[in-house]
Amino acid sequence: MKSRIQNASFISKLMPASEAAALIQPGMTVGMSGFTGSGYPKAVPLELARLIEDAHARGERFVIRVLTGASTAPELDGALAKVGGIDFRLPYQSDPELRARINRGEIEYMDIHLGQVAQYAWFGFLGNIDMAVIEVAGILPDGRLIPSTSVGNNKTWLDLASQVILEVNSNQPAGLDGMHDIYYGTALPPERKPIPLVAPGDRIGDPYLRVDPAKVLAVVETDAPDRLGRFAAPDEISARIAGHLVEFFRHEIAHGRLRPELLPLQSGVGNIANAVLSGLRDGGFEGLSAFTEVIQDGMLDLIRTDTLRVASATALSLSPEGVDEFQRNIDHYRSRIVLRPQEISNHAELVRRLGCLAINGMVEADIYGNVNSTHVAGTSIINGIGGSGDFARNGFLSCFVTPSIAKNGAISCIVPLASHVDHTEHDVTVIVTEQGLADLRGLSPKQRARAIIARCAHPNYRPLLEDYFERACRESVGKHTPHLLDEALSWHRRFVESGRMR
Ligand code: COA
Repeated sequence: MKSRIQNASFISKLMPASEAAALIQPGMTVGMSGFTGSGYPKAVPLELARLIEDAHARGERFVIRVLTGASTAPELDGALAKVGGIDFRLPYQSDPELRARINRGEIEYMDIHLGQVAQYAWFGFLGNIDMAVIEVAGILPDGRLIPSTSVGNNKTWLDLASQVILEVNSNQPAGLDGMHDIYYGTALPPERKPIPLVAPGDRIGDPYLRVDPAKVLAVVETDAPDRLGRFAAPDEISARIAGHLVEFFRHEIAHGRLRPELLPLQSGVGNIANAVLSGLRDGGFEGLSAFTEVIQDGMLDLIRTDTLRVASATALSLSPEGVDEFQRNIDHYRSRIVLRPQEISNHAELVRRLGCLAINGMVEADIYGNVNSTHVAGTSIINGIGGSGDFARNGFLSCFVTPSIAKNGAISCIVPLASHVDHTEHDVTVIVTEQGLADLRGLSPKQRARAIIARCAHPNYRPLLEDYFERACRESVGKHTPHLLDEALSWHRRFVESGRMR
């Protein structure tokens, strides 16, 4: 293990996780590593949860504010939420225990564009960061840190936090060394300069994270894998969604709006986005690139088969089988993958300049193309907006994909009015379900409604949507975006009351 910590001063700070956790005091704002289930600290949060549980048993209040890169795992979000130790959490999360407590109103959760978290912290909008707890793959002799499977906001937490705890995880592949690109050129306005990245594979920074050794209070050794789930296998529905997208991209190539190698792909989280990438593999494309946030199994497969020649992201979020494949062929992947801080992987300036093809999952879209990525019936959060907004607003194309129905048909994913809006109609150019693809470019609201209902709605719901839209066109006072205000959210109300939208 000592070979993973090659700096004497850091070796002298080695301590058990329980001692390190005791450095975290009630009320602290703690910036932790972790992004879509990878690279999160695996020992200190668990020990902290024990301390919090003990404090609560003694009748003492012990809560902290937890800031991360994105979702973590049961050892962090789950354990701390379970003992009532989280007062405030940002950004993206996906842990069932944490989600349940947020939706019960016990935890304040701020859902924010992932590309904006770091600048929010640098602007001072999040207050002082008291402690950073960061997992790394190793410490070099000169004290620089080898990042692990996710970079996320680690640079920002290490720079801004008053104190730092490092977890050095020997389970993280040693071959990660050299895969990262940490850009240290960010600044606050008005001192900002253009970010010197013009292609997804460009390296504009250092492979390593820096930390002021004086701030590091503890170094903890761990040896545990990232706890990642499996993706649902691509099924007929996702294959049809992928098929519509492939056909659309081919159409765009034929009309000279896209080149055969497309533009850098961004693919969102979730089963559907993952399955769509598998569909692209079979679409006959070559020489693709990705400027995205997270590399899931579907994208790894594109790299394995050389369909994708380079991918920029901030994290790997792989199934156990994906991790095995990654480890087996790590040299191949290191030459094709660049992992960056999420303020760069998701930067609006870069997404706009590169012209990303954004493909994100969604919960529902309304007939005008407003997209809800986060809330069931407008009130219960599923995960969070993640980076979908960073890419949707700034991409060359902004595609949202979903099956046309959910919960065995009890829910239509195309509704009269979205019950919560993460992406406005202005940021959405293409909507795809297994039924078809609605190309919304250059269309007015009523033209969009006709396209979305005809192409994307499930046959069981299409007549209801047509009926709603026709009546709205006749009866709505305003005729630009017609709605029946008393009825627009009635589908959701019916679902909440009866479990079905019909
Ligand atoms: N109403 C209620 N629930 C719905 C729904 C709707 N309209 N549409 C889907 N769901 C439910 C599904 O039934 C499923 O529930 P289950 O887990 O209980 O089975 C769950 O949402 C996930 O749906 P699934 O169809 O498996 O899709 P997914 O895994 O692709 O996830 C999102 C879809 C929207 C939840 C996911 O893409 C997400 O969190 N997106 C926001 C973040 C993001 O886009 N990040 C991208 C940048 S990396």
